[in-house]
Amino acid sequence: RAIAVIMVGGPTKGTRFRPLSFDIPKPLFPLAGQPMVHHPISACKRIPNLAQIYLIGFHEEREFALFVSSVSNELKVPIKYLKEDKPHGSAGGLYSFRDQIMEDDPSHIFLLNCDVCCSFPLPEMLDAHRKYGGMGTILVVKVSPESASEFGELVADPVTNELLHYIEKPETFVSDLINCGVYIFTPDIFTAIEGVTTQQKNRANLRRVSSFEAMQPDTRNLSSDYVRLDQDILSPLAGKKQLYIYETKDFWEQIKTPGMSIKCSALYLSQFRHISPQLLANGDGIKKASISGDVYIHPSAKVHPTAKIGPGVSISANARIGAGARLINCIILDDAEIKENAVVIHAIVGWKSSIGRWARIQASGDYNAKLGVTLLGESVIVEDEVVVVNSIVLPHKTLNVRVQDEILL
Ligand code: GDD
Repeated sequence: RAIAVIMVGGPTKGTRFRPLSFDIPKPLFPLAGQPMVHHPISACKRIPNLAQIYLIGFHEEREFALFVSSVSNELKVPIKYLKEDKPHGSAGGLYSFRDQIMEDDPSHIFLLNCDVCCSFPLPEMLDAHRKYGGMGTILVVKVSPESASEFGELVADPVTNELLHYIEKPETFVSDLINCGVYIFTPDIFTAIEGVTTQQKNRANLRRVSSFEAMQPDTRNLSSDYVRLDQDILSPLAGKKQLYIYETKDFWEQIKTPGMSIKCSALYLSQFRHISPQLLANGDGIKKASISGDVYIHPSAKVHPTAKIGPGVSISANARIGAGARLINCIILDDAEIKENAVVIHAIVGWKSSIGRWARIQASGDYNAKLGVTLLGESVIVEDEVVVVNSIVLPHKTLNVRVQDEILL
């Protein structure tokens, strides 16, 4: 039997995702028309003998209640949200629910970060994991040497695939092979985490008895049950024949910024083309408008037949798209309105926002730049013919003049 756990963090995480994460927890932000965390959840459906999926986080329970009940009905898998009373770190969070997780007596625990976008090759990883016979298998990917330092960098044995060396976000280059944030562990992972908490407790006790150290501020200022999977578990276990890697050659991205959510939305849309074309606007034969490339349109959205949409566009519930509107690489959120002949390119249009006739909402599309996509928060009004370029607009603003390279608070 297997259990899957998805780490969803909490309100103090996901800060680079603002202003979007003001209105909705980041894991529920829609990519390709589905909440971010829906994608790893549906990938878990492919795990053989899956008994249960847990989401572990420190967001309020009520924020996840509706989503959890609807997605467990839809996918017919028991899913439960488990709330930590405080952040315990990526391994500490898992450990704090060990009794509940072990109730099903799993032989394997799949652990997934909620903010990664990939094809989640879980059954293939499981086959490799069984073959290696270690305590854990990590999904890894090759990235450009320039971007590797944003992630956990690692070195593995090219023949046995054993993890030999692991450093989290190093300052100097180690390797272009990085940790994807997707793992399979045997229940022994709990013993490993317990070892770290015991060590931390002992160290804290020592500090208490040493009067000099007691006066020093605790630089980590964290309790002994705060354990990070990468630094505290993976690094020390590397080279001990316990951890192995499985490399994906498929797409992989991390979703820390709104810009990356547009990119990942498009990646999931192109994956739908292969695995669930019925979700795409032109995959079911229904053409509501002139569609090019991969586009998602919620059934309740109203799209004028003369609008031109795509590629990489996702349109959420009850949005209205007027005659002659042009949408490229963007996410249009619930209840937004794009009026006649408006243009939206490389942008996110917030819930209940309204874009006037002949207005242009656009950006350069440099997904790594702070202002590489234009973001309109909830209930922003852009008046007719107004142009907004490379800007972030916080909720409830009305724009009646051109805005460029600005953050409007
Ligand atoms: N429940 C819970 N509680 N979840 C947490 C906590 C916590 O206290 N802290 C982090 N998480 C969740 C986050 O929501 C995210 O899904 C995952 O754990 C990892 O978050 P971080 O620990 O902040 O690490 P990161 O995202 O900067 O980097 C990790 O993932 C990269 C891949 O995306 C590292 O493991 C990197 O090595 C890796 O490359």
